[in-house]
Amino acid sequence: MKQIVVIGAGQMGNGIAHVFAQSGFSTALVDIRQESLDKAMATISKNLDRQVSKGSITEATKTETLQRLSTSTDMAASCATADLVVEAATENIDLKLKIFADLDRMAPAHCILASNTSSISITRIAAATQRPEKVIGMHFMNPVPVMKLVEVIRGYSTSNDVTSTILQLSLNLGKSPVEVNDLPGFVANKILMPMINEAIYTLYEGTAGVEEIDTVMKLGMAHPMGPLRLADFIGLDTCLSILRVLHDGFGNPKYAPCPLLVNMVTAKKLGDKTGEGFYNYADPKNPVVAAFFQKK
Ligand code: CAA
Repeated sequence: MKQIVVIGAGQMGNGIAHVFAQSGFSTALVDIRQESLDKAMATISKNLDRQVSKGSITEATKTETLQRLSTSTDMAASCATADLVVEAATENIDLKLKIFADLDRMAPAHCILASNTSSISITRIAAATQRPEKVIGMHFMNPVPVMKLVEVIRGYSTSNDVTSTILQLSLNLGKSPVEVNDLPGFVANKILMPMINEAIYTLYEGTAGVEEIDTVMKLGMAHPMGPLRLADFIGLDTCLSILRVLHDGFGNPKYAPCPLLVNMVTAKKLGDKTGEGFYNYADPKNPVVAAFFQKK
C-alpha cells in the first residue's frame, strides 16, 4: 500500500486523510468542490496544531503529514495510481453506487475499494463493480484522529485476503479494527442509533429535558457526550437515514424514527453542521439548549 485516495472532503474524509498521511502514506484527498478541499486542509492543519500543542506529535511530524497530502478535483487522475481508495462521500445510496461504478473503471485492477459508509450495504455497493471481492467497509468513527475503532465490514463476496489486508492496515494506522458482517447498521449503528432514538423519544414524551437526559447518560453511564449532544455531533440527517436503513432492512417497528427527529430534519435543524439541533451552537465552545426545548 503506497498511494491512498480518499473520496469526499467532508467531516469524515478530512479525518481519514489526516490519519493516513500521519501514518506515512501518500494520500490524495478528492472532492468535486475546490472550496471543500480548501476547508478540509484548513481543518487538518488546525487539528495537527492541536496535536502539536498537546505534545502528542512534533512540529516535524505535522510538516511531514502535510507534505504527504495532496488535493484534487480530478477523480480519474488521482485514482489511476491508487492502491486503496476510501470513499467518504455523502451517505446517499445512488451517489455511492455511481462513485463505485466510476472507481471500478478508473482504479487499477489490484486496487481495493473501501467505503466509510455508516449503514449502506457493502454487498450492494460491491455489486456496482466488477471486483466485488475487492470491495470492503472501512467505517471510521468521528473524530477520526481520536477514535480508535475501525469497523471492518465484509460484504458477501469480500475475499479473505482483502479482509486481512484491511485489518492489518487499520493496525498500521494505530487503530483497533473489529471485523463484522454486512447486515443493516453493522454493529456500531445497530446499537448506537436505537439508543439515540430512545433518547429523542424520552424528550418527545416529556420524561425529561435535553440537559437532564444528557446528564443522566454522561454521569450515570460514563458516556463522553450525552445521546442528544452526540446526535447533534453526528448530524440529525445522518441519524435519521441510518434509522431508516435499520427500519427497512429488518422490517421491525422498534427502529421507527421518532417523529420529533423527522420534524427536526425537515426543519433543517441538523445539529453542529447547521448551528442548531437539540443545542444551539452560536458559540460552538458553549452550546446552550436550543430555544425550542428551553423550559417555558
Ligand atoms: N483531531 C485531533 N485531535 C482531536 C480532535 C480532532 N478532530 N478532536 C479532539 N481531539 C483531541 C484533543 O486534542 C484531546 O487530546 P488529549 O486527550 O491528548 O488532550 C482529546 O481529543 C479530547 O478533546 P477535548 O479535550 O477537546 O474534548 P473532549 O474531552 O470533550 O473530547 C471528544 C472530545 C473526543 C469528541 C469526546 O467528547 C468523545 O469521545 N465524544 C464521543 C465521540 C463519539 O461517540 N464518536 C462516535 C460517533 S458515531 C460515528 O462516528 C459513526 C457513525 O456512523 C455515526
